[in-house]
Amino acid sequence: MAFGETIAQDEEEQFKAFGEEIGALQRERAAARGGQPLRALHLKQHHGAVGELVVKAPDTARHGVFSMSGKSWPVYVRFSNGSSRHQGDGEPDVRGFALKLVGVPGQKLIPELTSATTQDFLLIDTPIIPFRNPAEFMMFVRSAKDGPAKLLPRLIGHFGLGRALGILWGALRADKVKSYATHGFHTAAPIAFGKSAAKLALFPNGNSEVGPRVKGNDYLRQEIAARLEEGPLSWTLRAQLFIDQDKTPIEDTSVKWDAPWVDLATLNLPRQDPSSPRGQEITELVSNLSFDPWHASEEHRPLGQIMRARRVAYAVSVIARQAAPEPTSVLSPG
Ligand code: HEM
Repeated sequence: MAFGETIAQDEEEQFKAFGEEIGALQRERAAARGGQPLRALHLKQHHGAVGELVVKAPDTARHGVFSMSGKSWPVYVRFSNGSSRHQGDGEPDVRGFALKLVGVPGQKLIPELTSATTQDFLLIDTPIIPFRNPAEFMMFVRSAKDGPAKLLPRLIGHFGLGRALGILWGALRADKVKSYATHGFHTAAPIAFGKSAAKLALFPNGNSEVGPRVKGNDYLRQEIAARLEEGPLSWTLRAQLFIDQDKTPIEDTSVKWDAPWVDLATLNLPRQDPSSPRGQEITELVSNLSFDPWHASEEHRPLGQIMRARRVAYAVSVIARQAAPEPTSVLSPG
């Protein structure tokens, strides 16, 4: 069955308003800090790393950057917390795992960046988000903006008791991310996959279950940094392919896709020392880059209303914080 998108007539106007709200939140945070605007969301970076994505897709899944088996793409990786605040890793939050493949030929989707040679995939620590549409997502951003104490009453005010508890329960029930090396990460929203559609996910590939002993507000950074200093880490990138709108809905990101996984590639992060001058240079560069699902070719076009809303929101955040231009090469780990 062919996948399709359902596009509401007034959505562009609505998404523009959401973009303006994201920009206002970003300015508010900058003013409170007395500094320049930073990312409107996913502000806290745990670490920036470099590595390679090696394609191993079967014949049935060779599309876009996964067309050529054995092909190795150099990548930048950014590990982050989802909040618009810089908060301790003990607070409930989304964890981000963003990939930027560099050296990818072909026309890209963002009109000002059609000749960029990058393809991004943005993943989080859960296979779904608890929001059915961008309006619910924004309602949550609004409710969460002044910290946990005000979150529940605001959610109840916006959504009603039942739905508010449902959203929070979904978030609280999710497995805690103890380490980036041992957790699965998901795009949670679909992208085109050649003529079909797919959701992608990263699963740990042989990384030790036993990691360094860490605690405190920055335990996620300490954990991944210590592991990378010790040796390489690896994940398998897999796809679920579209079946039909019931099993694999395109527009509703609160529904978990019910489809088998297909291996696409291996992500390898070689041993690297985050505290070395080169490690710090990489982390600084990654912090200034912009990761955006719309840094993509037509073959991996983001799909569904959450993705369409992101097209506006990321541009607002990225322009205001004067992110670095798209890179044309990846630094060596040193
Ligand atoms: C499935 C849904 C989503 C996922 C998986 C997701 C994931 C991510 C990730 C991983 C990052 C960090 C990127 C980095 O490391 O630089 C990020 C940043 C961001 N997200 Fe999302 N996100 C989702 C939905 C949304 C929605 C609906 C909006 C707003 C309408 C939004 C707005 C933003 C913004 C403004 C940034 C910061 C952009 C920048 O300045 O670079 N996200 N997101």
